Amino acid sequence: MTSRISGFYRLAPSERLLAAAEQASIGKEEIDQVERGLSLDQADKMVENVVGMFQVPLGVATNFVIDGREVLIPMATEEPSVIAAASNGARMAREGGGFVTTSTGPVMRAQIQATGIVDPYSARQAILHHKDDLMKMANDKDPMLVRFGGGVKDIEVQVIDSRLGPMVVTHLIVDCRDAMGANAVNTMAEALAPRIEQITGGRVYLRIISNLADLRLARARAVFKAEEIGGHEVVDGILLAAELAQVDPYRAATHNKGIMNGVTAVVLATGNDTRAVEAGAHSYAAIDGRYKSLTRYEKNRDGDLVGSIEMPVAVGLVGGATRVHPVAKTAVKILGVKSADDLSRIIAAVGLCQNFAALRALASEGIQRGHMSLHAKNVAVQAGAKCDMIEIVAARMAAERRISVDRAVELMAELNDKAKGNT
Ligand code: MEV
Repeated sequence: MTSRISGFYRLAPSERLLAAAEQASIGKEEIDQVERGLSLDQADKMVENVVGMFQVPLGVATNFVIDGREVLIPMATEEPSVIAAASNGARMAREGGGFVTTSTGPVMRAQIQATGIVDPYSARQAILHHKDDLMKMANDKDPMLVRFGGGVKDIEVQVIDSRLGPMVVTHLIVDCRDAMGANAVNTMAEALAPRIEQITGGRVYLRIISNLADLRLARARAVFKAEEIGGHEVVDGILLAAELAQVDPYRAATHNKGIMNGVTAVVLATGNDTRAVEAGAHSYAAIDGRYKSLTRYEKNRDGDLVGSIEMPVAVGLVGGATRVHPVAKTAVKILGVKSADDLSRIIAAVGLCQNFAALRALASEGIQRGHMSLHAKNVAVQAGAKCDMIEIVAARMAAERRISVDRAVELMAELNDKAKGNT
């Protein structure tokens, strides 16, 4: 298999799907699932008060090599240039061997908040004293997870001072295996609440997962050879751009937004919870008190650029929409992942790649050139262009660097007059 499918972008959508299916060895059923999409009937079982469907384009990014494996990346996004930029970045990473990933494993935290405790430090120790019983009680709630090697692995207790008095917050540390884990950990936390009240004499309010998934980190790194990415000046430009994101939260927000362009697109395509991953990413970016970039860039001894990322990626392969949404099921097959942990590491690699591609564009020709042609097509469509006219009007506007609905209308009128022989 190869993820480097030449001329992929020039194919029609159905041809691209076939080409991707051939490389990823997926069958007719999965192809049909993408073509049919989610039915209204299926949607009506997923959320409440369904009235229709809100569709988002699904594309496939090419050229990725992750841990020595060729991978095609399904991405669901409404933003032009994201998929092209990811494919481009991945092509440049290939020469350095592609992306190499690691992770901490699929471990989440649930919090149990006990309040109204006069002796919080003693309450903390009392909870820790009952740790083994509490862990057993929680694991009894999900024997299946335990059978698969998951379940509660530890209990931590924090005393947190607040305006409303001290709070004793118990953290259940749960290995969620192939689940995102919200259901599993929330059920465990709810089950333990009465026992925590008994032990501490306090009153428990919140019993819920923490989306700051700092025990479920995915990491990726890649070497981008200087000659592949435009030379040493581009390397230096990227280092300076990345440094600003380390020291300035205004830039860090945009820098991380670019990372999330890739991350969220894969999270959505695989039917996972985009908000959970976003909450995890941004809270982790501020974990040491100041909001910073999720990626790092350095120059190695050869003068090449080395990029790395570390971020929480709480995604699952079981439960949620991943097993229900037909397109998500095919997206998972295209990725060829065997576990939620595999998926999280691929997502981190895509995040790094997306960030690298944005920084490279910013450090060289600027971001607008890449955006221009798709943006021009959108504007031509808004102006009422149809069929071949879309491409012609868009190409003229992009060449003139004058992209507006008014200009598109003018050009269409000019072209129509020409066709009627009026000029
Ligand atoms: C646009 O969607 C994302 C960028 O702004 C990211 C960045 O500035 O690094 C291009």
